[in-house]
Amino acid sequence: MADYQEILSMSGVGKTYSEPVLTNINLTLYSGKVLALTGENGAGKSTLSKIIGGLIAPTTGSMTYLGQPYAPASRKEAEKLGIRMVMQELNLLPTLTIAENLFLDRLPNRGGWINRKRLREMAIPVMATVGLQALDPDMLVGELGIGHQQMIEIARNLIGDSRILILDEPTAMLTSREVELLFAQIQQFKQRGVSLIYISHRLDELAQVADEIMVLRDGNMVCTDDIRRYSSEQLVSLMVGRDLDSRFDVSARRQGNPILKVEHFTRGDVLQDISLTLHRGEVLGISGLVGAGRTELMRAIFAADRIDSGQLWVGDPLKAVTLRSPAEAIAHRIALVTEDRKGEGLLLPLSVAANTSLGNSDKISRLSWLDAGREQRLAQKYISRLGIRTSGAQLAVDSLSGGNQQKVLISRWLERSCDVILFDEPTRGIDVGAKRDIYLLLNELTQSGKGVIVVSSDLRELMLICDRIAVLSAGKLVETFTRDGWTQDAILAAAFSGYQHATGSLHNE
Ligand SMILES: Nc1ncnc2c1ncn2[C@@H]1O[C@H](COP(=O)(O)OP(=O)(O)OP(=O)(O)O)[C@@H](O)[C@H]1O
Ligand SMILES: [Mg+2]
Repeated sequence: MADYQEILSMSGVGKTYSEPVLTNINLTLYSGKVLALTGENGAGKSTLSKIIGGLIAPTTGSMTYLGQPYAPASRKEAEKLGIRMVMQELNLLPTLTIAENLFLDRLPNRGGWINRKRLREMAIPVMATVGLQALDPDMLVGELGIGHQQMIEIARNLIGDSRILILDEPTAMLTSREVELLFAQIQQFKQRGVSLIYISHRLDELAQVADEIMVLRDGNMVCTDDIRRYSSEQLVSLMVGRDLDSRFDVSARRQGNPILKVEHFTRGDVLQDISLTLHRGEVLGISGLVGAGRTELMRAIFAADRIDSGQLWVGDPLKAVTLRSPAEAIAHRIALVTEDRKGEGLLLPLSVAANTSLGNSDKISRLSWLDAGREQRLAQKYISRLGIRTSGAQLAVDSLSGGNQQKVLISRWLERSCDVILFDEPTRGIDVGAKRDIYLLLNELTQSGKGVIVVSSDLRELMLICDRIAVLSAGKLVETFTRDGWTQDAILAAAFSGYQHATGSLHNE
């Protein structure tokens, strides 16, 4: 007899759009166990979880849930039965408050009036489950950074009794501290007998959190097994079908003149007197906890947000400039690849080709007529260079998998002639193979004399690709490390330092 109760089983499940994207999936979920689901971008992970979560119907095969046939007609129906999922793309309503988003389908009311006080009281303990008790539950979600939004999305799905919880890339925007909080929650769910599916491209997380592993490749199961039997190298080769060199060489980089200088940037208490210099040929990393001011700094440099005071210098030789808009930043050869691909980056209903060429009209138009042939060739170049998985450049971006959407966003900016490229979470949701392609691309950019700033929640990634790492904590730049002097512990300690100083305790910040 099995130790663990069977919760859901899938037999021969497949999904076909214009082509098959999932084929003959057989899978069993047990109570109190975590199944890690991994595979390259476009392998079918989100499709599989959406089938369980009731968002899409399978083309073939069947499922049983608690011993009964299971074919949910909608996400709502699945949720009623106790199956919840945190989706890869955020689904919050930006114009509602945190508390309203958390309890959207069960707002406390008296005679039709929302009981605001009760709502706040309900929200606070839920926010505490993801360490956000310091935020005001009446804040609008649209005012939160995307990392905090991701935590709200997670918290929302932790409410109530569920039997199955699916987490699709829950940590893509989270730093180590938030990941730990989430893992503590997952342990509690396991103890209550919930069955979990955990999808991530961060392989070290999988080993930490999961009991079993399932690897998908091109919509096929290539392995389902006890995760302890596999090293991360073995998992990588199962995912991509070959061995991948995990080393990455930065020794050929040559630093040149300064190309960007930030002096005393201040904006409320979000950015406090920040100064830094970026050189040609350099990759400068920005580290810090969620909410430390990383994205705000990128947006301020790009003139997407106003600063209260401070001076920007750009060019070679450096010249003092006052930028009033992103358009002016672009005119000064600065590019920003944003972290919020859904909100600010991509036009989801438009094609891959249109999204790649957006803003690059000089390259694809002749006498201001859009040249469709050139647009197509431009898109094709990046489809092959970054391995964007799509059946064609004319396909709408919203039918691409999350990671492949990210690649489209990156390709748009690579096509511009810029001297300074600001990348905010460039490898968010991107598989190991494609991450490597992007790292190699960063090297190419530096070799052509550009300066690059990278914000990443993944500290190991920064330590792999950067020449220096500047650490933000509570809106201040607390320390800048160089390759010869950094350790993971020292960088983390710096990331926490601003908060400990202010309050003596992290959880009361
Ligand atoms: N509505 C759709 N129409 C056509 N093709 C689709 C649609 N939705 C998904 N696909 C395709 O199905 C395949 C699997 O996508 P899925 O989102 O499941 O991948 P994934 O494994 O979650 O990838 P990622 O790691 O990038 O999130 C992709 O090739 C994608 O382009
Ligand atoms: Mg996905």
